[in-house]
Amino acid sequence: MQTIAFLFLLSCVSCGAKDDLIEEPPYEEPNEQPDELPEEQPQTTTTFKDAPYLIGCAVVPSLLQNNRMYAEVVQEEMSSITPENALKMGALSKGHGSYFWDDADYLVEYAADHQMRVHGHTLIWHTDIPGWVTRYSGTREEWIALMQEYIHEVVGRYQGRIASWDVVNEAFNDDGTYRKTIWYENIGEEYIRLAFEFAHEADPAAILFYNDYGMEYSAAKREAICTLVKDLRAEGVPVHGIGLQMHIDMYRSASDLKASIQAAADCGVWVHVSEMDVACNPEKKTDFTFTDKIAQQQKASYQAMSEALLSIPADQCFGITFWGVCDVHSWLTSAPDAPLPFDSNFEKKPAYDGLTGTFGK
Ligand code: XIL
Repeated sequence: MQTIAFLFLLSCVSCGAKDDLIEEPPYEEPNEQPDELPEEQPQTTTTFKDAPYLIGCAVVPSLLQNNRMYAEVVQEEMSSITPENALKMGALSKGHGSYFWDDADYLVEYAADHQMRVHGHTLIWHTDIPGWVTRYSGTREEWIALMQEYIHEVVGRYQGRIASWDVVNEAFNDDGTYRKTIWYENIGEEYIRLAFEFAHEADPAAILFYNDYGMEYSAAKREAICTLVKDLRAEGVPVHGIGLQMHIDMYRSASDLKASIQAAADCGVWVHVSEMDVACNPEKKTDFTFTDKIAQQQKASYQAMSEALLSIPADQCFGITFWGVCDVHSWLTSAPDAPLPFDSNFEKKPAYDGLTGTFGK
């Protein structure tokens, strides 16, 4: 009897709930207009183009050609582009005297059409070297000739159209010793000076950079780079700038960022934050989620970077280049991450405001 009464009660409760749903829908009719429009969010009209220094990004030709939203962000926000891979030796040099120019030509033309600066990356590096060069066996003089021919060919082709070059990339280990690259092994440390001289011969107006990572975390590397640049300049070698790659993570302190920028500026040269991204998942967790808290921490890193750059003399401030346009195309693929100021749907992230918020200061 008790069971029957319970079942009866239960069916009444559920009937009542069903009736309520029919009579008074607690949801809005699909096409009904809300009584009041949501309050309009204040729209920021400041873009990266309003920055007191040039902002740019690394680009990939096929994405510019085939992805409308990617191209829109580049055109609306960027004042400078760096070919992410198209100007590397492995992409350009297909054999002694044989070159593939299509991608690089496309990007240089694209930049001219959209009034953007092109930063050339990179002439002499320890990696992305074509097979014919790694297999090359020659005397020191022949290696110098090979390097000279390559630099003359590439820099000469884009004379007046590529404003600046990373002439030598990553020549040092983190402890400040020379990296034993193929160039170092075959030519000796003088390869660095020679590379700058050859680039200058090919385009006397180009701004020439030494580019590397790690100045923000290794005092030894910072010291080695600054000593090299100052020594070369004292000898009259045309080194005009230091590029700090800045592949950092959101735990890097603002004071580390500032110290590295200041050290580069103290060499009396142009300072370029040349490949910036801020990893949010350096622990490489497989279940990483980009939370609001993480977004704020990442924003603080971008903001600190811009403030550091703005604290050096304006006539040394070459700009900031992000290593990619939006998160989905970042080179950081070994774990889920969200390192750039635009998310994978090309929407601005808090990092964007972290940068633009410093512009008027
Ligand atoms: C990276 C590119 O982003 C990748 O697409 C490519 O596969 C490898 O090189 N430091 C540099 C850049 O100087 O050239 C590197 O770019 C990232 C690290």
